[in-house]
Amino acid sequence: MNVSAVIFIPLLPLETSPQLPAPENVEIYSYNFQSMLRWSPVVVENGSVLYTAHYKTGFFEEWSGMGCAGSPQPQCRFPPELRRRWTVVLRVRAELGALASPWVLTPPFVAEMNTTLGPPKVNSVSSSPDSLLLSISPPFTPEPGDLIQYHVSYWENTTSAVKQKLSESKTLFQIGNLKESTLYCFSVQVQLKIYSGHFLEGQQSVPECHRTALSEATQAVHIILLFVLALLFVPPVTYALLLLWKYHQKIKYWAQPPLQIPSHFREFLRDPGLSGLELYSPAEEEPQALVVGEGSGLEDEDPSPDTSRDRGDTEGTPQ
Ligand SMILES: *[C@@H]1O[C@H](CO)[C@@H](O)[C@H](O)[C@H]1NC(C)=O
Ligand SMILES: *[C@@H]1O[C@H](CO)[C@@H](O)[C@H](O)[C@H]1NC(C)=O
Ligand SMILES: *[C@@H]1O[C@H](CO)[C@@H](O)[C@H](O)[C@H]1NC(C)=O
Repeated sequence: MNVSAVIFIPLLPLETSPQLPAPENVEIYSYNFQSMLRWSPVVVENGSVLYTAHYKTGFFEEWSGMGCAGSPQPQCRFPPELRRRWTVVLRVRAELGALASPWVLTPPFVAEMNTTLGPPKVNSVSSSPDSLLLSISPPFTPEPGDLIQYHVSYWENTTSAVKQKLSESKTLFQIGNLKESTLYCFSVQVQLKIYSGHFLEGQQSVPECHRTALSEATQAVHIILLFVLALLFVPPVTYALLLLWKYHQKIKYWAQPPLQIPSHFREFLRDPGLSGLELYSPAEEEPQALVVGEGSGLEDEDPSPDTSRDRGDTEGTPQ
């Protein structure tokens, strides 16, 4: 059972008008000290039913309004003046015009004893090599003087059967003595010390898993291992790269696609008489002509002899 919900039967039958049925399934729903009275709506053929709820504390014999007299809602929140430790009794009835149902009373309710506390909030988890540091806050707003403690269950992720528990009354605390770089799971429950001296226990939080950090010693070992691996593997790789560099010309040569003579030049080579004039005309300065003529396509275009720069230099000198 997740919420405190108890169903009550009408205690005072036929007090006023018997025509209107009393609300049924009257219950107090209380979660993290937020409490409300609620019930099943009363259905009549014509007209909409309204409800009135009252409370009475252990000290006063008079009923007080809860702030929802004549409300159409089948529920009523507790007014803020109702303290957690007070013993209260509530009553509710249905009303339709001049008609009113009998009152339905609840048994005594003490929020501090009867509320359901939810799981605490896990705000942050920071991991070190041998511990997890949890920052936790209660699921409700604490009142001055509240004694709150947390019950932590934790286990190594791989060995789910092993459970250990510890309890501290701080919102920031450590789960210590853990193995480094290991996945641990934990679940937290809040416990509130109540007036009677007992503890009101909350719900368990959903398990969270966190890995502890790697210790500096282990990190150093890892770095040394990496270094040794580097020492073992870097020289051969360097050597291979040097070889590659040394023979890169040959490799480049192998990688080159086979030289293809363009088809129109092949034509020309077969019958040079036809297009010879065209090819060697002064207008033809394409480097391709040179390439075919020399039969080498490997080298890039030779820089054509250019005298302009030389000229510029001589012009630049004043004498
Ligand atoms: C419902 O309506 C009928 C006729 O409209 C009326 O006679 C009857 O008294 C009404 N009942 C209630 C509970 O008001
Ligand atoms: C409150 O808790 C007490 C003890 O568990 C129980 O007897 C009582 O019926 C509860 N009251 C309500 C209103 O649920
Ligand atoms: C182990 O960790 C995984 C991943 O966080 C989680 O899904 C699984 O429930 C954990 N096992 C146990 C036994 O806690």
